[in-house]
Amino acid sequence: MKKFYIETFGCQMNVHDSEKVVGTLLARGYEQVEDTAEADLILYNTCSIRDKAEQKVFSRLTELKRHAKGKTFAVLGCVAQQEGERIFDRAPHVNLVCGSASYNQLPQLLARLESGERRVTGLSLDTDETFETPLTRRDNPHRAYITIIEGCNKSCAYCVVPFTRGPERSRTASSILEEAQQLAAAGYTEIQLLGQNVNSYVDPSNPSCDFASLLRQVACVKGIRRVRFTTSHPRDFGKSIVDAIDENPVLCNHVHLPVQSGSSSVLEAMRRLYTREEYLKRIEWLKRSPRNIAISTDIIVGFPGESEKDFEQTLRLLEEVEYDSIFSFKYSPRPNTPALSLDHQVPEEEKGRRLTILQEKQRGIQLRRNSELIGKVEEVLVEGFNQATGQWIGRTSQNKTLNFTTTSPGEGSLIGSYRLVRVTRAGPNSLVGESFN
Ligand code: SAH
Ligand code: SF4
Ligand code: F3S
Repeated sequence: MKKFYIETFGCQMNVHDSEKVVGTLLARGYEQVEDTAEADLILYNTCSIRDKAEQKVFSRLTELKRHAKGKTFAVLGCVAQQEGERIFDRAPHVNLVCGSASYNQLPQLLARLESGERRVTGLSLDTDETFETPLTRRDNPHRAYITIIEGCNKSCAYCVVPFTRGPERSRTASSILEEAQQLAAAGYTEIQLLGQNVNSYVDPSNPSCDFASLLRQVACVKGIRRVRFTTSHPRDFGKSIVDAIDENPVLCNHVHLPVQSGSSSVLEAMRRLYTREEYLKRIEWLKRSPRNIAISTDIIVGFPGESEKDFEQTLRLLEEVEYDSIFSFKYSPRPNTPALSLDHQVPEEEKGRRLTILQEKQRGIQLRRNSELIGKVEEVLVEGFNQATGQWIGRTSQNKTLNFTTTSPGEGSLIGSYRLVRVTRAGPNSLVGESFN
């Protein structure tokens, strides 16, 4: 039996794509191994969002070059799509290069490799199909990803995604609901809907079914206790999404709404299609909700032309919104993107300085936000157990980690169950509590 090893870089879309690829390989009779030395086929599902991520795959390929004899190498995902056949020049031992828009063709591409072809590619972007497979092999037995929309139709000045994942393609609501029902029947209780921009979801078979309407339908699937979704683009984030969350507690009270910058002029240069004020309007909808909706965001510091004043506006925005968490990055110039040719690039050192200041400020805000939960009772889905501390690891609806002990120890594994936990302590990145049910 042929053995394969797969390593995944990048976002949840990539993690879920890998689950589909693993399912496809297992169905072809391959066996998964955890060590490259044992593998006949080595796959890297790659990310190219920042330069560092792209470099990782090339360093992996170089590390293994000496042991390449008899092995087949595959580069999948965003670096594959971006670099295409140039990957063969940089790493001649690679045999398969395939971008995510061509995964439908993976069985045929694998068959060609198995029959002795040395180099095969799947690089077409002009597809209107999505990659759906009943063979998906999910890693987590309780929380499942479902792709609802692939690709991206925006053109943010810094971003490679529109080039690496192609144009938007939505799945039909009926196939999404069918998958959710099957997952519920298999014991899954949490679903995470995925897309680069979930808000522009439209059912291709019924244009009146938008994202909010899909959310409402998924929340009604019997057996599903939690529904999350990511990522939302502020421009397409409508009030109807907040209304849906207000009405249905199955929809988790957490929204990830990437702002990128607090300065309207930087937002314009980034081609984000909204101003600081328009963004804050959406935040106001979220804050007015009777559910205590946690808000997280992505921020890029040091975009070309970002002045000290612009950066200060981002710092003020953090204070104003009081985010529950942020992902922050130094701007990384990327191939093919419009921002490459902009003047006034910010020096690396200055980007580093701004990132440190930003993260320091956010740490204080998170501690404050989390401290507000002390004394409150939260429902958690139990995800694991920490041997070192003797605590169970739970996740709240707000997507916060809540580590807890129980008053009746020795009752067997709680993993996968839902518990009520009283919060007793708060740190910037997690909460501590005690379960009493
Ligand atoms: N589709 C999502 C996520 C895109 S990638 C969205 O539009 O929000 C995730 C994050 O990576 C982005 O939100 C952005 O903050 C960051 N990112 C994207 N391109 C980048 C670049 N060239 N340099 C630094 N960070 C980048
Ligand atoms: Fe995901 Fe973006 Fe990286 Fe592609 S480039 S793997 S879409 S984070
Ligand atoms: Fe698209 Fe997001 Fe980029 S919406 S263009 S992927 S930042």
